[in-house]
Amino acid sequence: MMNLSLPVNSPMLSKNFTYGVATAAFQIEGGVADRLPCIWDTFCATPGKVVDNSNGDVACDHYNRWQDDIELITSLGVDAYRLSLSWPRIIKKDGSVNQTGINYYIAILDRLKAKGIKAYVTLYHWDLPQHIEDEGGWLNRNTAYKFQDYVKKTVVAFGDRVHSYATLNEPFCSAYLGYEAGIHAPGHADINYGKKAAHHLLLAHGLAIETLKKHSPNTQNGIVLNFTPAYPETDSIKDKIAAEYADDYFNQWYIKPIMDGTYPAINQQLPKQQQPDILLGDMEIISQELDFLGINFYTRAVYRHNLDNRFEEVQLPNVARTDIGWEIYPQAFTELLISLNTRYTLPPIYITENGAAMDDHCINGEVNDQGRVDYYNQHLNAVASAISQGVDVRGYFAWSLMDNFEWAEGYLKRFGIVHVDYKTQIRTIKASGLAFRNLIASRAD
Ligand code: FCB
Repeated sequence: MMNLSLPVNSPMLSKNFTYGVATAAFQIEGGVADRLPCIWDTFCATPGKVVDNSNGDVACDHYNRWQDDIELITSLGVDAYRLSLSWPRIIKKDGSVNQTGINYYIAILDRLKAKGIKAYVTLYHWDLPQHIEDEGGWLNRNTAYKFQDYVKKTVVAFGDRVHSYATLNEPFCSAYLGYEAGIHAPGHADINYGKKAAHHLLLAHGLAIETLKKHSPNTQNGIVLNFTPAYPETDSIKDKIAAEYADDYFNQWYIKPIMDGTYPAINQQLPKQQQPDILLGDMEIISQELDFLGINFYTRAVYRHNLDNRFEEVQLPNVARTDIGWEIYPQAFTELLISLNTRYTLPPIYITENGAAMDDHCINGEVNDQGRVDYYNQHLNAVASAISQGVDVRGYFAWSLMDNFEWAEGYLKRFGIVHVDYKTQIRTIKASGLAFRNLIASRAD
């Protein structure tokens, strides 16, 4: 089956439902000479951190090829394009604006507007300026205020060119993978750092929302969170408690402060040195009302009880996985959306990322990524099922527009619905891209 098909009566088959493709600056742009170094440049230059020892110096060369790439996006027929801005391209070391960077993004935004494609802009997708990391990065509360200043200068310069702003992409990854597990930049592996970094990221989000409400009141302003739903390995009470703990630690930790103004109750069980440093008024800043919630979903995780660490992740044998090793389990997507909708009073939801890494091959100018088509079909239907059960999902973005720099995996894992030949920079729309295009084109008014 090379087509994507949804239930005939699904609101996802209406033109009111937004379809888009997503990218992030560091993963596609290259163009390093025109910006300051960021933590991912440093991380890539550290031997052993990125599987193929690659970096973001050229990536998809989008910095030079953005005009053609916008033609490509247009040819897919999407309503929207989710891109991120490179903070070190926009703000100089002394805090002033780098006009070259602003002009670069304004040209992109103007072109998108001319093509009738809505710009969904993410203000932070992990590329913290290195000089700010040198002062403590997200462990330093002051970084949140520097972020707010960057956001203010940027949105004022952009005027009415943007449809939607997301403050952060996946603060879990920045905080946990970057400061606690050490597998993402800046590579700190310290159990005492994760929640402290997370709190400053969430504070940065809240401060940025204040700024957006004031200086960009006409855009849709929100945040993008990732969820990896936690399931118990067995029905035993112990495994269930383990999965709930992991869920609070990895997932609810990032949404509950925003929606409810408090961290999950497990905060009290953490040793003092692991707890975030919360100042009076922080939770009010963090929990301001949003116009939308962006949700990124790829897979689930399975946990069992572990005496020492409360929980332990289990790799189930004989289950379907994508090329990056993530289990294909679409029903977790439906269950996630329903459970979030039950637990919290949510604003409208956009699926801001969903997709699969596959071992693609371009043969005679064609990429037959049947596995990815199946993945998209299952996951689009999982969203349709949640909508039919009352969840207010307004849009869906495929991750990603094109193959790109997949962080610690370098260029070895391909997530695009468009194939990129990194030697020639030739782009080829994969079967999944064609199927996505057909689905979008088939919608009724
Ligand atoms: C998400 C990131 C995105 C991409 C996908 C595969 O966690 O937001 O940049 O790497 O995973």
